[in-house]
Amino acid sequence: MKAGSHLLSIDDFGIDEAHLILKTAQKFEKLLETKRRINVLHGYNLATLFFEPSTRTKLSFESAMLRLGGSILPVVGQTTSLEKGESFPDMGRVISSYADIAVMRHPKEFSVHELCKGSNIPVINAGDGANEHPSQSLVDLYTVQKSQGRLENLTIGFLGDLKYGRAAHSTVKLLSRYPINFVFISHDKLKLPESVLKVVKDNKSEYEETDQLHDVINKIDVLYVTRVQKERFLDLDEYEEVKTVFQVNRGTLIDAKKSLSVMHPLPRLEEIQREVDLDPRATYFDQVQNGLYVRMALLTILLGKVRNVDGLKALEKL
Ligand code: NCD
Repeated sequence: MKAGSHLLSIDDFGIDEAHLILKTAQKFEKLLETKRRINVLHGYNLATLFFEPSTRTKLSFESAMLRLGGSILPVVGQTTSLEKGESFPDMGRVISSYADIAVMRHPKEFSVHELCKGSNIPVINAGDGANEHPSQSLVDLYTVQKSQGRLENLTIGFLGDLKYGRAAHSTVKLLSRYPINFVFISHDKLKLPESVLKVVKDNKSEYEETDQLHDVINKIDVLYVTRVQKERFLDLDEYEEVKTVFQVNRGTLIDAKKSLSVMHPLPRLEEIQREVDLDPRATYFDQVQNGLYVRMALLTILLGKVRNVDGLKALEKL
């Protein structure tokens, strides 16, 4: 991921670039302890194009841009000329006239890739249908490292909707670059797609698949819970059948490690009971907070303001 490039998929960056993002995010986390604003992006505009609901992703990108001294051009819902039939590449060309960087979420898979065909500014994929959500995965990587203190010798369980969950797809792909064992826990109808499993296999990660959480909970270091993605089901009867198969509650965690981190990209429905929020192992609201630091890092790197770890010192003076 170089200055000026797009972030569409986990395939767009390597392990060194991920490392720079983590380091930069750490720096912003530290700086925000004493400052409200770090003026690295003064004069820059971020367009936020959200054609699907979003709370955390949209607000964290907007908050990140404002805390970096930049401005935002927000678009929500069916209010653009896409509704009149304008193509994604044309829209990409148009936003390039007004913004310096854009983030887009859309229900159609690969729609953000289409927008990029016309765009002259960096574009971040904030979720394209059931495909990918790479910035969430960088938040997840940061959270795993912070909560577990390492990115190796971990057993990470992914639970719930592994078929349609785009955050899970990107996060599995990203974590498979590290020496991590995977446990995929899902209903038979919601298993990880073959294309994502192929990446796990290609990276020679150890993995197992099961539909029994209680058989594996005691060996897991990070339990990544996902919402069953109702909006992606073609058959709502099928959704009804699988929607409450897994519910993590206090009882579920009795046999789990003391050092477990329970993560979730949120929003959560019934899959994590509210009583778990009081457990010190609940890490999902930390993930929300980390979203700000990681997105500040992403915007700064994609706009060429941080190019390497040595460049981080300069941020202290702003
Ligand atoms: C996720 C998404 O939109 O893919 N949410 C998020 O960005 N934090 C997960 C979800 O909606 O279940």
